Amino acid sequence: MEGIKFNQVGIAFKGSGSYVPDQILTNQKISQKVDTSDEWIKSRTGISERRIAGFGDNVSEMGYKAALTAIKMANWDIKTIDLIVLATSTPNDLFGSAPSIQAKLGANNAVAFDLTAACSGFLFALITASQFLKGGSFKRAIVIGADQLSSFVDWNDRRSCILFGDGAGALAIEATSEFDNLIGFDMRTDGQRGSFLNLPSKNNEDSIIENIDFLSGGFASIKMNGQEVYKFAVREVPIILEKLFIRNNYSSAEIDWLVLHQANQRILDSVGDRLKIPREKILSNLDKYGNTSAATIPLMMDEAIRNNRIKQNDIIATSGFGAGLSWGAALIKWG
Ligand code: COA
Repeated sequence: MEGIKFNQVGIAFKGSGSYVPDQILTNQKISQKVDTSDEWIKSRTGISERRIAGFGDNVSEMGYKAALTAIKMANWDIKTIDLIVLATSTPNDLFGSAPSIQAKLGANNAVAFDLTAACSGFLFALITASQFLKGGSFKRAIVIGADQLSSFVDWNDRRSCILFGDGAGALAIEATSEFDNLIGFDMRTDGQRGSFLNLPSKNNEDSIIENIDFLSGGFASIKMNGQEVYKFAVREVPIILEKLFIRNNYSSAEIDWLVLHQANQRILDSVGDRLKIPREKILSNLDKYGNTSAATIPLMMDEAIRNNRIKQNDIIATSGFGAGLSWGAALIKWG
């Protein structure tokens, strides 16, 4: 893509797609490994089972499948795609997995890159891609959220291993001069509280050349202070959404759907209560998939669009939150 200037002002949402691996890991099965129970996990989180990527799956493969379905819904010629942004914290290639998705799609005219912001990653990627489109540089973009956190979970830590699963989701967005269906957005980070949830590098010391220390790269497993992350989410998510509503002259009564990052049903309910959004407008599928990190929001949206719950012109309030700490929100009109 050569950065041709289009005269565009806004974003249209043209398609959605998602993919989850076949393998199902139930609460029951986890309780055979660590001291927990189906009843405890369900009552504290709302999660019943999650999907685990098998040997054939990785972020690139899952992201490709989600992207392809979104492109089919948009009915685009693949050669017309200008930009592919992949939100992931678990790339199968640390140099970036987006170009391999570009190659699998045959999207030869697109530029593709990864973006990492943990569970806020999809929203950050959507907002990033939208700026290229609104600025007039690119016309068509695929935004993907894909993660394989199962590879980085400490399966002996019952406080965190119950939460996470693998999957991917994608949206196809297009620049338009007629309207802007990305009505508003906000993004925040607070590195001071970063230690509440992280996946630190784990370096092994080596000495390849005499008197020169080397660190060979690798990663430890997810470290989480669940209570602090919970408090952060139920405090910050309503605040960022309320501010977004006010800035864009929306009241919570005008919201058709609340699509939050699928971390914990209790967080979803608490945020909905704070915003006075009734339960039937709060979309949830975490009972089946757990927390798939950057994938949860597009995975949830795709499911609701295909089930004919989210319809053309519906107003969606969405928020992602997680490690960083990072959080973000967007107001979307579907279509
Ligand atoms: N099974 C059974 N008991 C468990 C357990 C499990 N899987 N995990 C923790 N416990 C125990 C604890 O050891 C503790 O026991 P103790 O009082 O004897 O020490 C007790 O349950 C309560 O632990 P606590 O951490 O206070 O539980 P909680 O109600 O806060 O629930 C989480 C834990 C992880 C479910 C909850 O904190 C949470 O969801 N936090 C947000 C995490 C999140 O969303 N992270 C991703 C953000 S993107």
